[in-house]
Amino acid sequence: MARWVARGRSERTAPVAEASRALDLDRSLSVIRALDRRAGRQLDRLDHWPLAQWSGAPGLRFAGNDDAGWAGVLVVPVDTGGPGEWLSRGGGPAWVRWIGVDDRAPVGPRLRVLLRAADRVAREGGLTGLWLLCDSGGWLDPYLLDEGYRAVDEVITLERSLRRARSEAFAGNFGPITPEAKRICLRPALFQDVGAVVTVDSRAFQDPWRYAPATMARELSAASVARVALDGDRVVGYTTAVVRDGGGHINRIAVDTVAQGRGVGRALLADINGQLALRGVTRITLNTQRSNVASQRLYRSAGFRVLDPPLKVYHLPLA
Ligand SMILES: CC(C)(COP(=O)(O)OP(=O)(O)OC[C@H]1O[C@@H](n2cnc3c(N)ncnc32)[C@H](O)[C@@H]1OP(=O)(O)O)[C@@H](O)C(=O)NCCC(=O)NCCS
Repeated sequence: MARWVARGRSERTAPVAEASRALDLDRSLSVIRALDRRAGRQLDRLDHWPLAQWSGAPGLRFAGNDDAGWAGVLVVPVDTGGPGEWLSRGGGPAWVRWIGVDDRAPVGPRLRVLLRAADRVAREGGLTGLWLLCDSGGWLDPYLLDEGYRAVDEVITLERSLRRARSEAFAGNFGPITPEAKRICLRPALFQDVGAVVTVDSRAFQDPWRYAPATMARELSAASVARVALDGDRVVGYTTAVVRDGGGHINRIAVDTVAQGRGVGRALLADINGQLALRGVTRITLNTQRSNVASQRLYRSAGFRVLDPPLKVYHLPLA
């Protein structure tokens, strides 16, 4: 007999029998860890951090099973705050970072229950919207659309090969340095820069792309390269990258709104390319939103070319 273990219920009166079943909120991550190893149908948008590193982040974990198998969803608010705090603090968007459905289980009924539970608990917690990056190859999209998620943008990947461009990896083909950018000093980001970098980041990015202080502290400490741009003693921009499997990936690049359009972004990009070249990488990748015209112009002018098929950005507004 089917058994979705009781602890919470979807408020919606769903036309499916499964939605009326109660749901287990498994906050231990054990089911998600197990599914992560074996589930054929997965959405894995854990960023460049492994699942284990998200287990410390406050978030919503839903997992349920019946005789046909397990399914799970992991939701992490952008403002991760401190452990357990986010529901009381409320507000802001959250990312659906991981979804998995056991190979034996039919997808639709399980996802419906789990996504509705995420919707209900996120509303109760005051979250403003759920966001999801999707490259599922099509298995997930119809269920997201059924639950009210809408595709609002795309994330594209761009690549620059240093094999062909080895000779220009250091000097770079990054265009002229503007007189204003010549004032800018670039140096490694230090632990005490976290606050200033978060300020730049929150001015430069819109939700849900901003990083909370806790996420930024983790980013700066885990990155292979983290650099800041200083105008005098003021941080006006920053960039981070990781080196993996001989390639470099630029995770973040941002310039304070008050300093944009003066060549700081170009200087940061040239600098991190040089830093990655020094570490021996043969290719550099990065992501940006299809709608982000300014960053694409910068990247294309520096020799980056679009690589993979895009990821869809889905949004479910809650407020
Ligand atoms: C993208 C970003 C880093 C560029 O930094 P910047 O200091 O403003 O850029 P620069 O002054 O060095 O300009 C470099 C190039 O970017 C492009 N660019 C910058 N601002 C632009 C704008 N408003 N519209 C169109 N292109 C723009 C241009 O190609 C420009 O070269 P050009 O002046 O020779 O035409 C900055 O706009 C930013 O922080 N944006 C918000 C965060 C973000 O989107 N980060 C990247 C996403 S992954």
